[in-house]
Amino acid sequence: MTDRVSLRRAERAYTDGAYASAPVFVREDVPFMATGPVPGKRGRFAAFNFGPTVVFPAVTNACIGAAVRRRGLVRLPVPGRRAYWVVSDPEHVRRVLVTNAENYDKAGPLYGVIASAGGEGLFTVNDPALWRTLRQLMGPAFQRSNMSTVAELSSRLWQRRMARFDPGRPVDFFDEFKQLGIETLVEYLFGETADTGRIAWLAQSVFEGLAGQLFLPGWMPGAARYARAMAAFDDLVYSMIRARRSSSVPRDDLLGYLVFAGDPQTGTGLTDRQVRDQVFTLFMAGFDSTATVLAWAVKYLARDPPSFGRLRAEVLGVVGSRPPTLADTADLPRLRAFWQTVLHYQPAFRIFFRNVVGADRLGDAAVSPGDQLMISPYATHRDPRYFPGARHFDPDLLAHPLTARERSAHLPFGQGRRKCPGEEMAYATGVLPLAMLLQRCDALSLPSLHGGLRNRYAITSPPLSSRVRVTLHG
Ligand code: HEM
Repeated sequence: MTDRVSLRRAERAYTDGAYASAPVFVREDVPFMATGPVPGKRGRFAAFNFGPTVVFPAVTNACIGAAVRRRGLVRLPVPGRRAYWVVSDPEHVRRVLVTNAENYDKAGPLYGVIASAGGEGLFTVNDPALWRTLRQLMGPAFQRSNMSTVAELSSRLWQRRMARFDPGRPVDFFDEFKQLGIETLVEYLFGETADTGRIAWLAQSVFEGLAGQLFLPGWMPGAARYARAMAAFDDLVYSMIRARRSSSVPRDDLLGYLVFAGDPQTGTGLTDRQVRDQVFTLFMAGFDSTATVLAWAVKYLARDPPSFGRLRAEVLGVVGSRPPTLADTADLPRLRAFWQTVLHYQPAFRIFFRNVVGADRLGDAAVSPGDQLMISPYATHRDPRYFPGARHFDPDLLAHPLTARERSAHLPFGQGRRKCPGEEMAYATGVLPLAMLLQRCDALSLPSLHGGLRNRYAITSPPLSSRVRVTLHG
């Protein structure tokens, strides 16, 4: 590749969300699946150490921007023996996650920080045998029959939150949906009697701190606060685990299940540490991700009144003014398609990681043991060979049954054996609050300073600002 593109310019094209209006970057003559280093100064990556909220989005976005532009595989200019790659070509992604998945694990520096906090949680566990056991044990947490319970829980809590909206002031929807997600998980895990407010506050502090730890050295401000929040979170969870173990009355909630769940093969149960790790994982993987997609959904609706109107008409036509249920969503095809489409454009985890175990080839590039792969659904979803209309947000992009080819390049929840088990939970706790918002609101509009389509980076990538004005019905 000889064309010269700076990371800064790539990032600008990326954050504008308008590749078509940045013709310098989106050149149709750039060959597909180009392989090679991202042009730019190597030193820029020293920037990893300066602030997760300012620098990291720029670097991540620049990497993904380069992948979008080059459509395929990009080697990042990181000094050292270990190579860092952004992977987005659907065929490469499939090889890494599905057909040669045993050659790509979750070891290495990129998962290291998350793993040090998540321990042997289902998301971060690397040992294949333990992962298999945990995946089986955690099955009931995600099974379809439990999803209407979770949906009811989430709807009840959302009803209460919407009742507190102040019509005069923009609502920060990412914040609202984050709180909703935490409260829903707290009740699902610990039941209604739990100290919801305290756990919710601690969980939020821990996960915001964790995002910082990914990119900041331990001596930076914030690290001590994160360590204190983590210790307090752990104390609380361990005390609940101990209380459950010593109680003679079993409780019918997820923690009660995890504390007494046994490995069907060996008959042994989870240790306290392993139960804590699963609780941590559910929070880590669960609330921020769904809240991110919901915040983008509201933002897109506020930018596009005709879509808002069509979706609102559909919800009112099917549900009227009664509270919607999970079963109702079967009759809301537009809303379902909209949810899928927002996941496509804003897949919550813009990147997730893999470590290369043995030498392999991805297309014409050789990857070596220890290389780190950054798989980017965000970039894959914008590959014009698979989704010709995906440059700008099109609410109808996925309003049809996906072809096998489209399905192969649609991976908001990952692919293969480590695919997200929480997809249905995300749907249950995502689509219903949206339906209820459409029911309650006559209009959504953006305040003058709304940050456009720029994102901020936590562990997921919510909008830079998710403040939206709501005009409530009646
Ligand atoms: C819109 C919301 C969500 C998105 C976009 C999402 C996305 C993902 C992705 C991309 C992965 C694969 C990561 C990898 O392969 O390295 C994943 C894994 C996982 N997700 Fe989700 N997720 C969402 C919601 C949830 C929820 C609600 C839960 C549970 C409360 C959850 C629990 C998990 C777990 C436990 C894993 C690890 C699975 C394994 O390794 O076996 N996710 N998620």
